Amino acid sequence: MSTELAIETTGLVKVFGDNRAVDGIDLAVPKGTVYGVLGPNGAGKTTAVRMLATLLRPDGGSARVFGKDVVKDADAVRSRVSLTGQYASVDEDLTGTENLVLLARLLGHSRPAARNRAEQLLDGFGLSEAAGRQVKNYSGGMRRRIDIAASILNTPDLLFLDEPTTGLDPRSRNQVWDIVRAVVAHGTTVLLTTQYLDEADQLASRIAVIDQGKVIAEGTKGELKASVGAGTVHLRLRDADQRAEAQKVLAIALNAEVQLDADPVALTARVDGQSTEQGAAEHAGRALAELARCGITVDNFSLGQPSLDEVFLALTDKKGVAA
Ligand SMILES: Nc1ncnc2c1ncn2[C@@H]1O[C@H](COP(=O)(O)OP(=O)(O)OP(=O)(O)O)[C@@H](O)[C@H]1O
Ligand SMILES: [Mg+2]
Repeated sequence: MSTELAIETTGLVKVFGDNRAVDGIDLAVPKGTVYGVLGPNGAGKTTAVRMLATLLRPDGGSARVFGKDVVKDADAVRSRVSLTGQYASVDEDLTGTENLVLLARLLGHSRPAARNRAEQLLDGFGLSEAAGRQVKNYSGGMRRRIDIAASILNTPDLLFLDEPTTGLDPRSRNQVWDIVRAVVAHGTTVLLTTQYLDEADQLASRIAVIDQGKVIAEGTKGELKASVGAGTVHLRLRDADQRAEAQKVLAIALNAEVQLDADPVALTARVDGQSTEQGAAEHAGRALAELARCGITVDNFSLGQPSLDEVFLALTDKKGVAA
């Protein structure tokens, strides 16, 4: 058992009736990092998190948090973790300040210490002005922030954030991302579930992609992207009239589907079947030469890694992977 791991699971299983919601998950989450668990609706993310947070008993396999078994040593685990659930847990009828002070008092803080901590968090999360308002009148973004504030009243060693930004506008998402970064900078390990690729891309150092209760891919962002294909070519032509012709030439040269972008002079294609970036670059280079030979002028060309979105679609929808 490594002391460097915040979470270690082996063959973790949870069954509801005949639904294997979590179907044998192995995870190794290094301490002090943000670990992303990415998956579509119903993949088993919340179920897995609830087992790790000792709220749900596993039906098979094992899970350790900081070396402690989540079933046998549930109290020891509970003392070190905190969960911000997918659905909010603060009291709607209380104000922001009242919620935080109440929870801090329940955690054993003295009244002045509780007020201090509440004020500090409300301020840090941009909620000072809303502090005296009932939470039921908060916007979605304010609501998520007060939830996270409530879960870090005592700085936990491990924080579970279950889809912390689902339904938030881009500005509120950015604020939550900043909060997550600040929490990790203080040494807390964060396990973040999300359906958003860009969120995992922004925050997580490692990512597990889960689908139907199983881990279908795991690694750093770079590893996951590389597993899908070495690159994506983006091209801009001088002349929009040449685009249809360019699409045909590229499709043959790259042996891949070529997409027409919204911009009438732009095209995008995956460079598949090349295991290295260099291989992809050479392949793309040959395709460019072929375009030139056909008299098609390319104004601008770039070869980039696929986006995590492409990785996700390729992994969760095998039909989407080019043959
Ligand atoms: N308490 C429960 N009783 C019965 N089935 C459940 C229960 N909790 C979850 N499930 C089922 O387990 C599966 C996984 O659900 P889970 O909530 O873990 O998914 P999720 O990845 O968190 O999805 P979402 O992104 O929608 O939150 C689903 O099929 C769900 O219907
Ligand atoms: Mg969920």
